[in-house]
Parts: sequence; C-alpha cells; structure tokens
Amino acid sequence: MIVLGIETSCDETGVALYDTEKGLLSHTLYSQIALHAEYGGVVPELASRDHIRRIIPLLEQALDNAGITRSAIDAIAYTKGPGLAGALLVGASVACSLGMALGVPVMGIHHLEGHLLSPLLSSDPPEFPFIALLVSGGHTQLMRIDGVGRYTLLGETLDDAAGEAFDKSAKLLGLSYPGGPEVSLLAETGNAEKYRLPRPMLHSKDLNFSFSGLKTAVLTAVKDCGESLDMREKQDIARGLVDAIVDVLVAKCLSALKETGFNRLVIAGGVGANRQLRTALNDMARKKRFRVYYPEMEFCTDNGAMIAFAGAMRLLNEPGAAEKAYGFTVRPR
Ligand code: KG4
Ligand code: ZN
Repeated sequence: MIVLGIETSCDETGVALYDTEKGLLSHTLYSQIALHAEYGGVVPELASRDHIRRIIPLLEQALDNAGITRSAIDAIAYTKGPGLAGALLVGASVACSLGMALGVPVMGIHHLEGHLLSPLLSSDPPEFPFIALLVSGGHTQLMRIDGVGRYTLLGETLDDAAGEAFDKSAKLLGLSYPGGPEVSLLAETGNAEKYRLPRPMLHSKDLNFSFSGLKTAVLTAVKDCGESLDMREKQDIARGLVDAIVDVLVAKCLSALKETGFNRLVIAGGVGANRQLRTALNDMARKKRFRVYYPEMEFCTDNGAMIAFAGAMRLLNEPGAAEKAYGFTVRPR
C-alpha cells in the first residue's frame, strides 16, 4: 500500500510517499523560513499563500522521485492540526480533492502523532513501549507510547513550549527566526558560569514543565547589559538559556523513565535537533542505562514523511482509519 503524506501546518510544505512494504519512497520539502525571516516570525497569511504555490510542484516531484504516478497512491494522509488554520486548509483541501479524484481514502493526522512516530522511520527504530519527549515550537509533552494510537499524556508545559523559549529569547537577543538553531550555535562558545538562569519546575513532583519565566530571565539579562550587549554577552546568555532548558528536559525524561520502568526514550520535534540536548541525553543514557532514539535530522522538524508514515501505521493497525469521505475539516488547536 502506498500512502501519500501532506504536511502544511506551519511554515514548511512537506510531501512524501510511504510504501508499507518498501518503506519511504520519496519526500520533498519546502521551507518558508526565508519568507518569514524579515518579520521575525511566521505570518499566517503569507504561509497559506506559499503553501498554495508550492504544494502541487512538490507533489509532482515526490511522485517523480519515487518513480510512480498518481494512480499508484492507495491512501492519503494530511495534517489535520494543530497548526495555522489557513495553512492546514491548503493541505487538507489538496488531500481531499486528490482523494476524491483518485477514489482513494483520506485521513486527517494529528501533527504531534507524526512527530512522535518519526523516530520509527530510522534504520534502527525503537520497539514499543517507550517514553516520548515531544519538544516543538508549540508543544512540550512527555508521553507514554504503548503502540500506534495508544498514547498517554504524562506531563506537559503549563505555559510556553521549549521551542518558544528558544524563539522568544532569540528575538530578545536580536537573532533571526527561528531562534533555536542560532541560540544553540551561540551557546557553544558561551561561558556557563556567567548567567545561571532558573530551572523552572525542576523539583516539582510531577512531569510538567514551565518555560515562560526563562524568557523573562533573558529579558532581564539583556536589559542589565544595556549598551554592552555585544556578541560575547549574547553567547553567555545563550549558554545560560540552553543549559537551563536542557537540564529541565533531561531531568523530567529521567523521572518519566523511572516512573514507568521503561528503558527506551524517544525524542521528537524541532528542539530534538538541538546538539546540547542530544549530548546531555546521550551522557545520561550511558550513566542510567537506557537508550535514546532520535528521528533522522531531516525528520526532526516538520516534514511530510512523518505524516505519510503515521497514516500508513494507522491503516495497518486500524482497518477503517481512512474513509472515502471527502468533507475535510482542520483542527487548528
Ligand atoms: O517541530 P517543529 O519543526 O515545528 C513545530 O511543530 O513547532 O519545531 C520548531 C521549533 C522552533 O521553536 C525551533 O526554534 C526549534 O524547533 N528548533 C531548535 C533547533 N532546531 C529547531 N531548537 C533548539 N535547537 C535547535 N537546533
Ligand atoms: Zn511540528
């Protein structure tokens, strides 16, 4: 069975073809980062318009790269939400109209399900059950994953997501959007002793997070620097921020593993690409004898492959997951 996956929830247009026997056949992606950079964040209207421009050429290219034609598609999966309403509607309308034209079933996939199953696309995938840490621009959640569709929320952020802390702090530091990769790069040469930022909820007894205080801490540091906010200071503040976020994420992952007795941890979502987080988790995994799994770098941030894969898993595990009903809806929240 060949499943077409379409992702348009935010600022990346992703299209992929996944074969339940052969694996991933092809995937194409267009990132709108350059389009939104001058505004310091994603402009929803521009995002929708650009998805419209890109999606059909990306689909043609994905089919070409896979060496198949549209008639080989057996089912279509699209991101139903969460995300920007207008952006989601582009993917949903293309998926449903193509589904209707081809007479194949269509299914709406939860964006986060795509992220949390994405490590299963790698050559050395984890077995169920595992703990998943979902760290993206909009979400920070710890989940217990017992199988496809069997997800239990263990804890989540009470305010900002970890990615949001990166992005908002980056803006305060005058860095470009999206902030995560740039903050991470600056932090590499920063002094860890200069700014010791708070570790919110590190010792709370639950598996919840809170990151909004960190951006306030960064704002205070920036204000205190005043005119002397040079590259050196920015590196030191970035280092303080990264260390605080990483410490909290690692500690909560450890608690979740301890609570469930699991020894497999999966990291998904854009912040999972962060080098400092990976190093800290790998060190901890060696010490505490658990295994960490990451998606391939290209599947950490938004992409169509994870949606095609989640759709394929749904079809295999839940007969009737996809319907030949083409009245689409999106769920921005
Ligand atoms: O999963 P994703 O691509 O989109 C959402 O679903 O939100 O995640 C985007 C987030 C942004 O906040 C971005 O700054 C962050 O992931 N990010 C990073 C890194 N790469 C992306 N954060 C820290 N370090 C990185 N290397
Ligand atoms: Zn995402």
